[in-house]
Order: sequence, then C-alpha cells, then structure tokens
Amino acid sequence: MVKTPKDNDIMSKLVSLAKQRGFIFQSSEIYGGLNSFYDYGPLGVELKNNVKQAWWKSMVHSRKDVVGLDSAILMHPKIWEASGHVQNFSDPLVDCKKCKRRFRADHLLEAQGIKPDLGTMKDKPKELEKCPECSGELTEIRQFNLMFKTFMGPVEDDASVVYLRPETAQGIYVNFLNVLDSMRLKLPLGIAQIGKAFRNEITPGNFTFRTREFEQMEMQYFVHPKEANKFFDDWKEQRMQWYLDLGMNKKNLRFREHGKDELAHYAKKAVDIEYKTPFGWSELEGIHNRGDWDLSRHSEFSDQDLKYTDDAGKKFYPYIVEASAGADRGTLMFLLDAYTEVAGGRSTTTKSIKEVEVMLNFDKVLSPIKIAVLPLSKKPDLEKTSQQVLDSLQQNWHCQYDQTGSIGKRYRRQDEIGTPYCVTIDFESLEDKSVTVRDRDTMEQERIKIEELLDYFKSKLKS
Ligand code: GAP
Repeated sequence: MVKTPKDNDIMSKLVSLAKQRGFIFQSSEIYGGLNSFYDYGPLGVELKNNVKQAWWKSMVHSRKDVVGLDSAILMHPKIWEASGHVQNFSDPLVDCKKCKRRFRADHLLEAQGIKPDLGTMKDKPKELEKCPECSGELTEIRQFNLMFKTFMGPVEDDASVVYLRPETAQGIYVNFLNVLDSMRLKLPLGIAQIGKAFRNEITPGNFTFRTREFEQMEMQYFVHPKEANKFFDDWKEQRMQWYLDLGMNKKNLRFREHGKDELAHYAKKAVDIEYKTPFGWSELEGIHNRGDWDLSRHSEFSDQDLKYTDDAGKKFYPYIVEASAGADRGTLMFLLDAYTEVAGGRSTTTKSIKEVEVMLNFDKVLSPIKIAVLPLSKKPDLEKTSQQVLDSLQQNWHCQYDQTGSIGKRYRRQDEIGTPYCVTIDFESLEDKSVTVRDRDTMEQERIKIEELLDYFKSKLKS
C-alpha cells in the first residue's frame, strides 16, 4: 500500500471528513456556531466512548489498586481557593485597541522566540507593543482567570458564586477519605475519574484540541512520599504504552519534561506525552508528581485531617502522582493517527477508482463500527438472510447495514470510517450458507459459514 505523506492540509481534510461522516460537528451550527464548542455525531460518540472505555478498562478494571469515581461538576467554591485556582489559574492577556483581537501574551512572546516568565509577567515588554495582525496598539497585560462562574440559587451575588470545574482532579482529592474508608484500601492506591471540565480559554483552536468544554480522564495515585519518584517513572511508561497498545504510531509520540521554571504551582515534577500534530508537537497528557500540595491544602481549608495512617500508626500526607489525559484531545489524536490517504486507490472491486482513497485505520478496539453487513442485492430472500446475520452480530458488536451503491463503493465508505470487517451476503450464500468477510487492512476476503460467524468474530475482535 502506498501512503501519501501527511501534509499540512490534513487538519482541514480531517475536519471535513469528521463532519461529512458523522464524527464531529460544530456546536450550534444552524445558529452560526458557538466558537470552540463541538458536538460528537453518531460515529464520533462511538469513537470517543471507545477511547474512554479503553482508558477505564486499563486504569480501573484491569488493576486491583485503582478504583473509580464520578464527582459533581459544581463543588464547594472553597475547593478552588484551596486548589490555588482562584489565585493562580489565569493567563496573561493583551487586547488590540484597533482590531479588538485578544491574545495570550506568553504565546505572542513565544512566537518571537522569547521565553516568557509566566510567574512574574506583569509589565509589558517592548515585544508586546504591536498587534501581530493589524499592528494596532496592544493594551497592558492583565491576568484573566479561566474558570467559568455561575450562581447557585435565585440570588446572583458574591455569596452564591460557584465554578464549573476546570479539572476533574479536585473531585478526587476531596473524596480521598470517603473512598479510603468505604473501600478499605491501603497505599499505594489510585482513584480514576472521567468527566467534563470547563475553561474559558483565551485562544481555543485547532478543532477539538483546545476547547472551552472538554472531557478529562484523570487518575490520581496516592503513594508514600518516598515512593513518589518511582511511581512517577512507572506511570510515565505505562501511560505511553497505552497509546502504543491502541495503535498510535511511535514516531508521533514523545515525552517532554517540564523545566523548573514552567512547573505548575502544585507540581514537583511534570512530563507531558506529546503528539506530533500537523500544527506541531502538542500536549496529549500530563503526568505530575503533585507532592502533598492537594491533601495538605484541602486539610487546611476544610479543617479536616486528610492524613493517612500507616500500619505502624504513623500519620502523613500521601504524595500524589497524577496521570491527566484529555478524552477529546485523545480522540482527535487517534483520528489524526488513523487518517491515511492511499494514492492511486486500493480497491480492486470497483471501476471508479479515485485518485486518492481515504481510510481510518483505527485499532479495532476504537473503531466506531466493528462490522458492516452488505447484501449484494435488495432481493427479498437475500435481505432476509442479511437481516438475520445482522441481528445475530449486533447482539455482540456495533454493526452497520448498508445496501446502497456498488459493493466497491460500500467497501470504501466503510474504510473511510475505519470499519475493520465487512460481511457480504451474495446469492451463493443462500445455497452454501456462507458469507464473504473482507478485512479492511489486508483487503483479503474469506468465505465463512454463517453458523461459524460469531466465533470467527469473537476471535478477531477483542470487544
Ligand atoms: N489535573 C491536571 C490538569 O488538569 P492539564 O495539563 O491542565 O492538567 C490535562 O490538563 C489534560 O486535559 C491535557 O493534557 C489535555 O489533554 C486536556 N485539556 C486541558 N485543557 C484542555 C482544553 N482547553 N481543551 C481540550 N483538552 C484540554
């Protein structure tokens, strides 16, 4: 198979494929869209659910030291004071007085090759005099808090302010004791959670890469302080392996260790797993050694003792090693990684070979549709058998039934959405009670007895 090189247009091609084939739509599109918000279509919701389920299976179900949690999005506002978000979760912002565009000051400096000192950036350096778009004058830098605020109850005053959580992690820390007591667990132990987070990002962009509403998959691992570095290294490797096991190309992944000057206020050590996107190496997941910052701060602000008591009766704050991934970012990277253009076409069964055929060669675990059932004609007896095949397969796997267009076109449509197997029912099937199974990647075709089809796919598909 000849692959065309991935080019710079790939994002626009992917955005258009995502819309045309029901993966991702602009939110509120019929009203002109709402910037940086997206809706997942019928295939997108399957893909993203498969990403989340693969994460949950690997982080919770296949381990005896990690349990799950689903905490509320709106929480006590003091949580965000304790976590440091009220004080620190802000980006330096400048506005253009002429064109009214808004920029992150640190991004503008980075674009000019200057490494900004985020902690101390208050005065405007000379590199931030002019707007990069229209050369208009830029305002002074101001710190802009990224948390979305809303009001609880009927009165809109300071006392009723609550925040939409900007990360799921805090819901885990404030439930540490509940989980510990109810599950009778000992260190080291992990608590995992998947859920929505909200950030009023100044410069969202690159499709679903940076949005204002997104989902996180976070796991907080509570350990003895002496073991934090060891577990940090372990999790770093395990998390990288997860992406590789789900078929991501090794050359598109790398680690990036954070320098001392860029560590978040809570982190003692941090490393990102980065993906090589068409817009550059970009963060996919962060692994952090958060020390005892979270539990000690929540103890102080809640007046509750969140220390752990070991078997020898010694009390201490566990350190936390966090693996924090984005479900939407992950889904986007899996889409990008699977996107393949085949020059010259690879179908042998169709006359209308296109110059370039597109396929999404997802790992089977991630494919939104596992099996397509394709009757060769609409004749009633063929349809009846095809329906029976569909009925039995869809008890186990998500299937699609397609009876329109030539068989070559139908194969290509399934390749384009990443379906690993197509089952074709032809007139011979009525005689020999067999069907043809076509493999997406090899395009090899096998004749399989209908009564053996379930076992055949059980051996081919992991879930
Ligand atoms: N609890 C730690 C934490 O939230 P983070 O690096 O700010 O750390 C973790 O976020 C992950 O969440 C990122 O690696 C990314 O995958 C995802 N993420 C963060 N902000 C996002 C945004 N605006 N849009 C989409 N995903 C985002």
